[in-house]
Order: sequence, then C-alpha cells, then structure tokens
Amino acid sequence: MKKMIAAVTSMVMLCGMTSCGTKDEKDSNSKKTVGICMPTAELERWNTDGEYLKNSFEKAGYEVKLTFSNNDATRQNNDVLGILNEGVDLLLIAAVDGNALAKPLDEAMGKGVPVVAYDRLIMNTKAITYYISFDNLEVGKLQGAYIRDALDLDHTSGPYNIEIVSGDSADNNARMFFDGAYDVIQPYIESGKLRILSGNTTFEDTATKGWLTSNAEKDMKKTFGKYYTSEKLDAVLCANDSTALGVTKALAGNYKGNNQPVITGQDGDIDNLKNIIDGKQSMTVFKNVRDEASVAFEVSKRILNGETPTGRLIDSLAVDVRYDTESYQNGAKYVQSYLLVPTVLTKDNLQVMVNTGMYKWDDSGKYIEAVTKAAEK
Ligand code: BGC
Repeated sequence: MKKMIAAVTSMVMLCGMTSCGTKDEKDSNSKKTVGICMPTAELERWNTDGEYLKNSFEKAGYEVKLTFSNNDATRQNNDVLGILNEGVDLLLIAAVDGNALAKPLDEAMGKGVPVVAYDRLIMNTKAITYYISFDNLEVGKLQGAYIRDALDLDHTSGPYNIEIVSGDSADNNARMFFDGAYDVIQPYIESGKLRILSGNTTFEDTATKGWLTSNAEKDMKKTFGKYYTSEKLDAVLCANDSTALGVTKALAGNYKGNNQPVITGQDGDIDNLKNIIDGKQSMTVFKNVRDEASVAFEVSKRILNGETPTGRLIDSLAVDVRYDTESYQNGAKYVQSYLLVPTVLTKDNLQVMVNTGMYKWDDSGKYIEAVTKAAEK
C-alpha cells in the first residue's frame, strides 16, 4: 500500500512539475514569481525541501527565489523583505523563529502577497493563509509510543531512566513534538516507572538551541557527567535526527554503562539511517518531504490561480493527507492546514524509504544513500 502511495505520489509530483502543465499554462505561470524561504541549508531536510519545491515550481513555469537563512531569524526577515522588494506573487516560508516574522509579513499583507507557512507554523499573524505540515503531535506520539513499547513499560516494573532532548524553542513544531511524546510517557513518569535523573522534565528544560547536533551533544555530555556516572540510561527521547546524532556522539566515550539506550529521532537523515542499521539509534519518524513539497506546490498553484483551496483538494492528491481547520491556532486565527501522515522507521522497514524512489541501498547492500538528481531523471 505504502509502495503504491509512494509511486502515485511521485507521479503526482511529476505531473505537477512537468507534463501536465500545458504550454499556455506554463507561459502564464512564467509571469509569476514564488519566494521559497527555508530556515537553513545546514540540515539535510531543508536542502531536500528547498530543492523539491524549487524544481516543482520551475518545471511548471514559475520563477523561483529560494533563500536559506542560516537559522538566523534576523537574516530570514531580511531575506523575506528582499524578495518582497524585488516583487513576488506568493511566499512559502519555513520560519526560523515562528514569532519573529511580523515586519515582513505585515508588508506582505499590505502588498496582498499570500503567505503559506511551510512545515512550521508562523505565529501571531493573520498574514498566513495556509499551513502545510506533517501532523506534529502525531510525530511526538509515535516517538513516545516507541519508547513505551521498546521498554515494555506496560508489562515490566522498571524503574527505567530516560532523558529528553527537545528541539528549538523558537520552532512551534518543537513544542508539539514534545507535547505529543510527553502525553504518552507522562503516566509512567508519574507512577515512577520512568525516572528522569537530571530533573529536566519540561519543554523549556530540554530545548536544544537551533536544533543543532553540537548543542545536543554538549548538553548530553553534561548530563552524563552529572547523573550517569554509575546509573544506567535506558532511553533518550530525541525530537529529531540532528539531536539524536548529538546524543549518539555524546554516548561514545562519555557514557559508562554497557547497554545501548533506546534513542528516537525524526526525518530519516542519511547519517541516522546508518546509525539505525548499526544499532546506535532505534527509530526515526520519517516524513516524506517530497510529499510535503507536492502538497505545498498544489495548494500554492491554486492560490496563484486565484482559487481558494479547501478540504476538497485532498481528493485530488495522491498523498495521505488530512485537511484540518481546528488544530492550528497561531494566536491570531485558526489556520487552514493540510497535515500529512508520518511513518515510524526501524531497521526492519527501511525499505519504505527506498520505495519512495528518493533513496537506494548502497553497493554493499547494507546502508542507504540518497538517489542523486542525475540518476532520478
Ligand atoms: C521539522 C523537523 C526538523 C526540525 C529541525 C522541525 O520544524 O519539522 O523535521 O528536524 O525542524 O530542522
């Protein structure tokens, strides 16, 4: 089924990107410009998003301005303002800081430029018209449930030691991942079956600046030095793959125990897939960014054509996606959202990634690598 979805999805993308646009459509699109603003080129996933989005729009004849802002909110403000000054018909933004885009978004509203929030919700503004993302709470729930089942919390008495490594507090998603996961593990913390020796139990306590691997590694090393010199660590709830990578690095040489703790992740980054295969990370929550990009493209295309996408749009999308008008309140309004469904990956089902056509087994047949653009054509 998944395989079929992936295959159909690729067709939809190709259709959206190339052959389905008539020459006339492409000619009229070519007079329109789309600004795509990604947070940083440093993390694998945003490069992939940026590249797919750019290709989709360009192949349909649009002009594209793509920016990466080095995880710097001020720089992203300037990048968006720059695009607005040059002239743009629609903005697709994955915010560095969901609370810090007020100025450019006011300007976008003033100029009547529609703004679509991509992956991360933009807060406290009426300027955004749509939000395209994966179901962020569900991502956290999948991580929490994985830990619950891996430690068999419902059938063993424990106690088990767990630590939490969350994402950047400027990213609204990070809090939702935490909330989703915490919801699942909270009863076990309250009953004492799960212990957090560091005492870092809140989102704020556990946030990782910039989602950076180096910060997660630094924080975890401190935790090991202070709380785990003689205690066993059973699990680390890591919000994504960049933080999981930092925890795995910190474990090597700093953790005295001889067990491999359960470690969660999110994204399916290549280095993390290798760690999963090598037994150094337990799972990742895979979010097919090509699907996310394809939904963003389809929604944007309709807005650019003067239409108002609604729930009916999902009938024409061959992607597992839900239309939701009630879950994402950004402080100024409920934002119409298209939410895709994430998938748990462990070493037992990594073939799912290969089936998307974006990845392949390497020559040794052991590890997974990205399919290069040249090979995809
Ligand atoms: C995204 C994750 C990503 C994280 C760090 C989040 O907003 O949803 O997929 O791992 O940012 O870039």
